[in-house]
Amino acid sequence: MNTLAIVGSQWGDEGKGKVIDYLATRADMVVRGQGGNNAGHTVVIDGKKYALHLIPSGVLQKECINIIGNGVVVDVEGFFDEIDGLNADGVDTSNIFVSDRAHIVFSYHKILDGLYEEARGDSDIGTTRKGIGPAYMDKVERSGIRVCDMEDIEYFKKVLSAQIDNKNKIITKLFEAEPIDKESTIDKYIALAKRLQPYIRDTSVLVDDAVKSGKKVLFEGAQAAMLDLDLGTYPYVTSSHPTSGGFIVGAGVGAGAIKDILGIAKAYTTRVGKGPFVTELDNEVGGHIRDRGHEYGTTTGRPRRCGWFDAVVVKYASRINGTTGLSLMLVDVLDDFDEIKICYAYDCGGQITEHFPARIDLLEKAKPLYRTVKGWRQDISACATYDELPEACKEYIAVIEELVGVPVKIVSVGPGREQTIVRGEIF
Ligand code: GDP
Ligand code: IMO
Ligand code: MG
Repeated sequence: MNTLAIVGSQWGDEGKGKVIDYLATRADMVVRGQGGNNAGHTVVIDGKKYALHLIPSGVLQKECINIIGNGVVVDVEGFFDEIDGLNADGVDTSNIFVSDRAHIVFSYHKILDGLYEEARGDSDIGTTRKGIGPAYMDKVERSGIRVCDMEDIEYFKKVLSAQIDNKNKIITKLFEAEPIDKESTIDKYIALAKRLQPYIRDTSVLVDDAVKSGKKVLFEGAQAAMLDLDLGTYPYVTSSHPTSGGFIVGAGVGAGAIKDILGIAKAYTTRVGKGPFVTELDNEVGGHIRDRGHEYGTTTGRPRRCGWFDAVVVKYASRINGTTGLSLMLVDVLDDFDEIKICYAYDCGGQITEHFPARIDLLEKAKPLYRTVKGWRQDISACATYDELPEACKEYIAVIEELVGVPVKIVSVGPGREQTIVRGEIF
């Protein structure tokens, strides 16, 4: 079996897009299994930057098949905005297929995302407002509309019309906001349904065929372990399962379909949106990391919160994902520090723990315990092999491997494809 899952091991934006694009040069298929266009995956090829949201990062490889699996929530309007943008850049998008079982994100989901956030006041989650939570709410409540419902236009019109009536009741009666216009919304989505039809497939069959015939299949995670609905920093999470198990349901494959799991982690930590972040540096050092790493959201443009590498987080993420290797990203961002810190445990009111706690109140008060290592104070962005890295940088990587308990198989020293150091065979 030639299958590999790529999963975020912190709070997202670890550089998954870069790694997937890099490995997709040898992949036959790339599969998304959860999330929606809340994701923002950046790929840089020959200095040109592509920001992908819903479209799998294998799209920039000519021969690669790209699958949007049943576990994804599909904003059809956003899907075509992305397709049009890619086509305008000369990218071929004929190899993309969308699961007939995936649920659809409609404009009312985006409106409700904003209204729920505003109603939460100071306790808001800081969502991307892409309608992700409300779309998954409909799915779980069993009132969602699926991609296959777009195949029969008369049926689609009927279910969408009923849903708009329901949502308008919530929008006007609960929130006292403006209703959405039914006729124009239906017309817009009928046109989108007709445009989507050639992309619709039973993608579980396509993925299963590819896996069983020994094709190289990459499973592309969006978001990250700490944003997982069950296992992340609830309620400051997304509404899907961005952990390796999420692919099983979200791509419609058996539990044995994934051979290896590559956890993607930054050489430091970032988080966008609200929620606990034990190693956060709300100071000059954090600002320096933000500037050097250009840490602003790909989807929302929000400044990302920055802090030191948290081995408690990445060790936890590696456990729940079954990570077999790590890809350590943006190591070059730490090039000009005299000293670098790595958190190895939390002090939760006198209780020392190396295991990530569930309670948000404990996490908010937890103090990070740090190991300090020497910085390398050298530009590593042109290093092409592991041996070329400065000794202090190798030592930093070794400490991370020791604390997390997983080997670092990729070291990324810049956003470009060529700035990728691979240790041994990966995929
Ligand atoms: P994703 O959501 O996990 O795909 O990550 P994002 O694309 O949201 O954010 C990662 C950012 O880091 C992007 O701007 C990448 O181009 C950039 N990036 C990825 N790897 C590296 C690296 O090794 N060094 C530097 N300096 N930038 C990188
Ligand atoms: P990628 O794939 C970072 C965060 C939001 C918010 C929380 C819930 O680029 O790593 P949502 O809109 O999903 O309901 O928001 O999750 N979030 C992300 N943070 N990277 C992402 O995706 C994210 N997708 C959602 O900021 O805190
Ligand atoms: Mg991102």
